[in-house]
Amino acid sequence: MKIDLFVKDEAKTFKLGEKFGNLLSSPLIIYLKGDLGAGKTHFSKGIIKGLGIDEDVTSPTFTLINEYVKNDLNIYHLDLYRLDTVNQILDLGIEDFINDNSIILIEWSEKLGEYNLSDNIIMVDIFHKKEGRTFSISSNIKKYEPILKEIKSFVDTWD
Ligand SMILES: Nc1ncnc2c1ncn2[C@@H]1O[C@H](COP(=O)(O)OP(=O)(O)OP(=O)(O)O)[C@@H](O)[C@H]1O
Ligand SMILES: [Mg+2]
Repeated sequence: MKIDLFVKDEAKTFKLGEKFGNLLSSPLIIYLKGDLGAGKTHFSKGIIKGLGIDEDVTSPTFTLINEYVKNDLNIYHLDLYRLDTVNQILDLGIEDFINDNSIILIEWSEKLGEYNLSDNIIMVDIFHKKEGRTFSISSNIKKYEPILKEIKSFVDTWD
């Protein structure tokens, strides 16, 4: 299933992320794709807030991995932009983060190529528009359909 959403500005990107984060549970990996400056980090900030983290969320562009903890939940926020090969990515220990209590957000997930990290994946593709962005959120996994449907109706009624 795939949903396409128009998101007019940065505040709405955050709001969408926060709603999405409210609906998510572990184990899960979220792939975030889109050009430089598409809004992957702003969307991630919303998701992490929606998962219940109150601390400041900063871009992992330079740190590569940022980690947040809420009770039993571990959240990992990665940016693969500066890595070139799948081996470099695996050297981050990414597969050690995958467990029943983790949610992993991966900016520039296209750097993984065909490498299959998990079955529990939701994909987010962000496209620049003249004004605003289009978010395309999809998953091949049936259990995520209710989340996508709820996100769709949230956006349909948000103003
Ligand atoms: N829906 C939106 N409409 C217009 N601008 C937006 C929207 N969402 C975010 N932005 C703006 O896009 C810019 C880039 O955002 P962000 O840093 O999140 O991108 P990114 O995809 O993480 O970039 P990078 O590839 O460098 O990591 C910010 O200036 C932000 O305000
Ligand atoms: Mg970013």
